[in-house]
Amino acid sequence: MTGTSAQADTEGSTDMETLLERMGGASAVIETLEGLHGRMQADGELAPFLEGIDLEVWAGKQFDFLGRVLGASEYDGPRLRASHKRLVEHGLSDRHFDATLGYLRAAMADAEVPSDCIDEVIEVFESTRADVLCRQ
Ligand code: HEM
Repeated sequence: MTGTSAQADTEGSTDMETLLERMGGASAVIETLEGLHGRMQADGELAPFLEGIDLEVWAGKQFDFLGRVLGASEYDGPRLRASHKRLVEHGLSDRHFDATLGYLRAAMADAEVPSDCIDEVIEVFESTRADVLCRQ
């Protein structure tokens, strides 16, 4: 339905609300993203890919992305490919992807996200691998 956004939110994203709720709500997601970005920046192999990025804008986009994928609404693979194409051309690979998932897991644990939710969120991120790394 295409009513007001408030209606669309409550009627169209029940799954998202459930998983986000189970994760501990928006504050747990924000805490997770902060923990993730801090860890990624501290990793000498990942930091070069983040140079020149406006971290606030990046965090905002990732927050939106999490809402979308965890809510099982539109998943925008082509957009993810476009966002990471330049990085893949500069060597972004499975090694960096795996390290990021490890940091994501640790950041969620720090944010006290329940462990069954952690596994689900990691699965969702795992499913983006081919798009992020621009594979067939
Ligand atoms: C683990 C899976 C990953 C997911 C799900 C993911 C998700 C995203 C999303 C949603 C965006 C914003 C897209 C947009 O709306 O424009 C983005 C941008 C970006 N990501 Fe990732 N990402 C992942 C892995 C990585 C890794 C491993 C790196 C590098 C260390 C990375 C670096 C970046 C950078 C630098 C941008 C900003 C690109 C730009 O604006 O030029 N991402 N990512």
